Amino acid sequence: MNVPNHIAIILDGNGRWARAKGMPRSYGHVRGCANLESICYVIRDLGVKYLTVYAFSTENWKRSRDEIEGLMTLFRTYLKRCMKICEKNQMRLKVIGDIRAFPEDIQKSVARVEEYSKDFTRIYFQLALNYGGRDEITRGVRRLAQDVADGKHRPEDIDEAVVEGYLDTAGIPDPDLLIRTSGEQRLSNFLLWQLAYSEFYFTDVPWPEFDKAELTRAIEKYNERDRRYGAVKEEQECLRPGL
Ligand code: FPP
Repeated sequence: MNVPNHIAIILDGNGRWARAKGMPRSYGHVRGCANLESICYVIRDLGVKYLTVYAFSTENWKRSRDEIEGLMTLFRTYLKRCMKICEKNQMRLKVIGDIRAFPEDIQKSVARVEEYSKDFTRIYFQLALNYGGRDEITRGVRRLAQDVADGKHRPEDIDEAVVEGYLDTAGIPDPDLLIRTSGEQRLSNFLLWQLAYSEFYFTDVPWPEFDKAELTRAIEKYNERDRRYGAVKEEQECLRPGL
């Protein structure tokens, strides 16, 4: 089985999963968080190098105050535990998104874990917090415009590589496979630039139940696809060295 180098996941369905069990939505988030830890071990054992997950979007501020407070508490607990998870997996954590909107103690915890894990190289783990693809591109364009104004770039030299360098994911290869759990089939503003050529896999399984067997199924489906990037297959084969 060919394992994708980079998997991105939209973790969806915590709330509905909990409600279906007659439990509060917050219970779904707690179980969703525990599942994220489990999936990191699976990812490590499979040899996937990059994992990026959507944990809190720029739109999630529209949820009830109670739910947002519950999520903040969960992020606090998770970030405390995260050093252990990073060490166990030799995993480097990077937060993408604009976390300046988060409480200061969470920002400090993020900085602490990022610093602690910065030399780990077995898994590169991107946690999207207050992330939105349009917001990321807007923030990047703003910085790029400033650099042009400061004479660091000439407009005519701006190409895709330059733009990529201004995204939160600068230097991180694009996802090969995007997974969205719990039935919805849309991107919801996740990694709009980076998912341009990725394969998409949608499943009805809610995030708290998305386990190793489900991930393996997603990777098997990915393997059945013919990834051509717009070229004609025969032409690609002709371009292979030695043919
Ligand atoms: C989707 O479920 C999940 C979220 C909006 C964010 C919460 C994510 C987690 C708790 C997992 C990661 C946790 C940490 C601490 C890193 P939903 O509430 O949108 O479900 P619904 O669509 O059924 O309402």
